[in-house]
Order: sequence, then C-alpha cells, then structure tokens
Amino acid sequence: MGGYILAIDQGTTSSRAIIFDGQQQIAGASHKEFKQYFPKSGWVEHDPEEIWQTVLSTVEDAIAKAGIKAGDLSAIGITNQRETVVVWDRKTGNPIHNAIVWQDRRTASYCDRLKKQGLEKTFTRKTGLLLDPYFSGTKLNWLLTNIDRAQARAAKGELCFGTIDTFLIWRLTGGKSFVTDATNASRTLLYNIAENAWDDELLKILKVPRAMLPEVKDCAADFGVTDTALFGAAIPILGVAGDQQAATIGQACFKPGMLKSTYGTGCFALLNTGKDMVRSKNRLLTTIAYKLDGETTYALEGSIFVAGAAVQWLRDGLKVIKAAPDTGTLAASADPTQDVYLVPAFTGLGAPHWDPDARGAIFGMTRNTGPAEFARAALEAVCYQTRDLLEAMHKDWRSNGKETVLRVDGGMVASDWTMQRLSDLLDAPVDRPVILETTALGVAWLAGSRAGVWPKQEDFAKSWARDRRFEPAMDEKTRKAKFKGWRNAVKRTLS
Ligand code: G3P
Repeated sequence: MGGYILAIDQGTTSSRAIIFDGQQQIAGASHKEFKQYFPKSGWVEHDPEEIWQTVLSTVEDAIAKAGIKAGDLSAIGITNQRETVVVWDRKTGNPIHNAIVWQDRRTASYCDRLKKQGLEKTFTRKTGLLLDPYFSGTKLNWLLTNIDRAQARAAKGELCFGTIDTFLIWRLTGGKSFVTDATNASRTLLYNIAENAWDDELLKILKVPRAMLPEVKDCAADFGVTDTALFGAAIPILGVAGDQQAATIGQACFKPGMLKSTYGTGCFALLNTGKDMVRSKNRLLTTIAYKLDGETTYALEGSIFVAGAAVQWLRDGLKVIKAAPDTGTLAASADPTQDVYLVPAFTGLGAPHWDPDARGAIFGMTRNTGPAEFARAALEAVCYQTRDLLEAMHKDWRSNGKETVLRVDGGMVASDWTMQRLSDLLDAPVDRPVILETTALGVAWLAGSRAGVWPKQEDFAKSWARDRRFEPAMDEKTRKAKFKGWRNAVKRTLS
C-alpha cells in the first residue's frame, strides 16, 4: 500500500512521530517526553539538541512500528509548538542558547516598555497579536541583547532565527532549507499578516536583522528533502503548520464559523473567519489559520496557557495522581458541596486577560479539601477558560445565528467526565472526533495532498467522523453560580 505520510508533531512536552497510511489510518506512532528547564520564576527553556534527538528517535521508532522503510514514505509534514525561539549558527548549525519557550515570561517588562511607547496598536494592526511575552519577537530580542555578540553576528547573517519547524527543517535537510510557513511566521510579532511579509518597521522596533529570517512559504509547499544520511532516503517535506493551525485543519474546520479547541499543554480555540481578518474587540488574536495556493484563511484565536499542564502538575508536582487519565475519575469523586477554584496562572494568564505577572492561586479550600477537589478544580478551570474564550468569540464574530459546534481534540478530551463538564459549563454541545491525533492528521493532510496521494480538501473534510457528542446537562442555576465563583477567583488572581 502506498500513500504513507510521516507527521512530526514537535510539542511543548514531547515529540511525536506518527505514520498514516493511504487511508489516513495510523500505521505506527512513537512519542518521547523531554526535559523542561525553569532557570528562574516564569522562565521556560528547552534544549534544542534534545528536541532534535527525540525527533530523530521517534521517527525511527515510528517507521519500525509501521513495518515500512523510510523510502516508502511519500512525504513528511511538520507541526510544532509555536512561538518558541531558537537561534543557531549558520555555519555549524549549533544553537547559541537554549530555546526560549512560548510560556516564558522573561520579556514581560520589555513588553510593558513597548506598550508605554504606544506601540501595541502598531503591532496589533500589522500582526493581529498583542504585546505579550508569549510571542517570539521579544524573546528573540532578548537573545540578541543578552548573548555576547549576537546582535552583530545576526546583522552579518551569521545567525539564523527559527521557530521549531524552521530549526527541524534545517537539520532534516542538512542545512539546505531555511524556511518556515505562514502560520508559524504569523506568531512572531515580526510578520505582517495582511501583506504576508516580514515587516521592516516591526523588525526595526525589535532590533531584528532581516538577514537572520527564514523564507516564508504556504503550508503545503516544497520545504526541501531529508538528508539521506539520516533515514537512508531523500523524503520530501511538503507540509508545515503550527500545531494549533494543524489541528484546525485536522478537524476539517475549513468553513468560516467552524471552531475547534485543542487541549494539550495549553488550550487553544481557533475560529475560522475565512478571508476576513476579523479584528477582535475582546482581546483575542487575529491569526493565519492556513495559507494554501497563495490564499490566506484567517482565524480568531483564544489562547490559554495551562490545560494539560495543570494535570501534569497534579501528577508530577502534587503527586496526587499516577497517570494523567486518572484525573477524570478522581475529579468525579470530588465533594459536590465544596466550591474550590484553581486559577492555573502558572505562567501568567493568556486570553482574554493577558496578564503575564499573574501567578496561580487556589480559592475555597476547607479542612476537607483533598486530591479529588484539586483534580476537579484543575479540570473545571480548563472548562471555565474555554467559556471565557468562546464568549469573547461570540462578541467578535456574528455567525448569523448559525451556531457551530465546538470540535475538541488533544490528550484531555479522552476523559468523558471532562468533556461532559465542558459541555455543561459552556451550555453548548461538544463534538469529539474518532481520530484524536488531529494535529498530526492535519499536517499529514497538508503533505499528503501536496504529494497527490491523499484526498483533496472537500473529500478529506467529509471523512471527519464523530466519536461522541456531549450535550449540556447542568441546570442553569448551578452553572451560573459556578461561573460567578470562577470570575471572582480570576479577579482576585490578576496582578
Ligand atoms: O502556542 C503554543 C502552542 O502551539 C503549544 O501547543 O500542543 O504544545 O500545548 P501544545
């Protein structure tokens, strides 16, 4: 059977490699977690070499598990944690510093300074983003300012800047391709999403030399071929998208008004707005959903920084669960009379608050509060935050009364309890697809359709299948009371 596509999904806490066959079914998969570095409060780093090694080993493992040879792969798609910054030496390929991760808050005061100079409007108009440390631009400025001679070397073209996709493609092609795609570029604070080009005014403000920037391509394009020394074959890389955009594609949200929410480390809701660059009045982001055949499709995005990360904290920090899937069961056993709220602002708060200095807090504990109430509070926090995002989206986007159902994916959605609670707290239906690896599927489709071995967009969209729909079952009074409690907890957490 032909049509094998390898999807590399390089996420915040793990690297995954998934091989799909010509029928879009998973033929082999592998994943590996890697170390998180927290050098100071609010700082988060990754070792790019470790990222690279986990990508290599998971790819080899997935190929072996699928029982194929690298040469059987028609193409590769790459999707990645977005905004994370790597700078490397163009000659040696060696990073000059650890990667600064999207969650990292070290540039909060720099963002404040830029805001005080009245620059946020300019950035928002051109990039659709806000001046928050979340995005790549100020992190890149930090590296250029704090690493010896980096600014001068970058200006001479000796250094390369990339988000993780760019870094991986560079390595996979043996340094031959220095490229990114429009979705990843749209998260940097350096890219004009209306003109689809790096923006000189923004580059000047953030002191980023143009010489260090990659070429920006459509999401389905020729990104280069793998160095044969790696897997024994020259495999074309034909699809690239940031992970949230790839999930939007994998969920087949191709029509304006369609909406998905992915529960990975964080939670990111994207609403397809078609050709319209909808400007948010409610602190959401305007971003590129995908760019295909030279045409840009836009999205409104709500970004929450902590979703699965709260479950990880229950597991690794508090040690109240052994494995992530235990959380739903534990939460279901929580005392219904206790109103415990966790505001998981471990790395500040994202949309719609954008408060980088806020830190996590827990409210409503009594002498009886235990692991079950913590687990429920962590899962409910994700649901409340999703509701905050969807309310903001409703205000920004008039759907002509046509309500679309939220399509969900990511590790957390395997929990029935969490999905029922999400539907209850949203007061709206929630659809869970059969294939939960939507991020990998989305980028595999980009690569597979470009290679001509996978179906065209319309047929791919038709193949989206629902596993289960969750319908709201909570009474209005309880929902209102709980949500009021959440709002109050957030208010007390803001810095
Ligand atoms: O913007 C950050 C996002 O791309 C990270 O995604 O799946 O690693 O939580 P994830």
